[in-house]
Amino acid sequence: MRMVDLIEKKRDGHELSEEEIAFIIQGYTNGDIPDYQISAWAMAIFFRDMSRRERADLTMAMVRSGDSIDLSDIEGIKVDKHSTGGVGDTTTLVLAPLVAAAGVPVAKMSGRGLGHTGGTIDKLEAVEGFHVELTKEDFTRLVNEHGIAIIGQSGNLTPADKKLYALRDVTATVDSIPLIASSIMSKKIAAGADAIVLDVKTGAGAFMKDEQDARELAEAMVAIGNEVGRKTMAVISDMSQPLGLAIGNALEVKEAIDTLRGEGPADLLDLCLALGRQMVYLGGKAASLEEAEDKLRALIASGAALDKFKEFIANQGGNPAVADNPELLPQAPYRIELPSKEDGFVAEITADAVGTAAMILGAGRATKESEIDLSVGLVLNKKVGDAVKAGDSLVTIHASSEDVAEVKERLYKAIRVAGSAKAPVLVRGIVTE
Ligand code: URA
Ligand code: CA
Repeated sequence: MRMVDLIEKKRDGHELSEEEIAFIIQGYTNGDIPDYQISAWAMAIFFRDMSRRERADLTMAMVRSGDSIDLSDIEGIKVDKHSTGGVGDTTTLVLAPLVAAAGVPVAKMSGRGLGHTGGTIDKLEAVEGFHVELTKEDFTRLVNEHGIAIIGQSGNLTPADKKLYALRDVTATVDSIPLIASSIMSKKIAAGADAIVLDVKTGAGAFMKDEQDARELAEAMVAIGNEVGRKTMAVISDMSQPLGLAIGNALEVKEAIDTLRGEGPADLLDLCLALGRQMVYLGGKAASLEEAEDKLRALIASGAALDKFKEFIANQGGNPAVADNPELLPQAPYRIELPSKEDGFVAEITADAVGTAAMILGAGRATKESEIDLSVGLVLNKKVGDAVKAGDSLVTIHASSEDVAEVKERLYKAIRVAGSAKAPVLVRGIVTE
């Protein structure tokens, strides 16, 4: 096989066979095929698209380019959740203990964040003593005995995706549905998931700004999952404004605890239920999505979900007392209010701009090397659709210094007050195929 012929084939709109796709991905991973040929091939895919079968073959070729995590020692159907990323997205912290309490094994591998706020591991490290450095044996034992454990990323997973994603970034080929869908799905499959639930965000704070694109991506990923024997479902959710009220690491842990207690923000709870019911259904712990949702609501009401959170924290060295006393979490020394300048209704809280403000405070990393401050962040006092009077606080800024002029200026630009406004619909669609 010659790479130039395969580029030409895709350029002219023909379908590549499984063997041809495997040849390309293997050759690229081991250095036999140069970047310039892969760039041309990716651009051909950008214009010519890939069939459902080609997308599945590309996904599995990338899975086979490196290690896969073997979770076969863990009993039950392992369901993983993936979010395409947003601002103040506290769902994993809520969902992991919640679905574990419903009997779905949570054997999660998680990463650190880049940009807006920290990743799940950063957030959990706001709990004193909590750690994710577990041996494979301890990880397996914890999931089998307690139904939940989170471990840091390790192993050489999907090296082909790493190389290809970096190349796409500099060749204007990131925005391609088949390439994005196979990239995300390859990572989840290599991490050992039997079933996958996807939260595809849309709006200003999302990777997919346009709702129709988000829907197409969700459908593409669900199709790949089902094609390769991993049952997959998706929720398309609004990320035009931040999710919940808290943006920042310790602040989001507190928000997750409130939500597990049944006292969290309505939008965060609604999204957790929309995703959680798919996880419980795919995990085989309910006969329908409705039954799964009833089960999750009951676990919150009875306190079982919060108890599972405490058990999980204690198992990994953290102080479970934070669940009853969130003031044990790191606290920023300054709390500064952002008063509304006018009467009206909140019409817009642009998610990405608010995320950037939180990052400037120190809640997120500008580069991989930056240190983050777990205590700082933002708490929204109003959401889109809420009435506001001049002088009411729009946001409480939790800061490490009194000088927050730049953050305030950015927040005023991100938040628009108008004569009328209504709350956006949070769950824009579900894909269950
Ligand atoms: N996120 C990924 O992991 N891959 C892509 O291609 C795009 C976003
Ligand atoms: Ca939040």
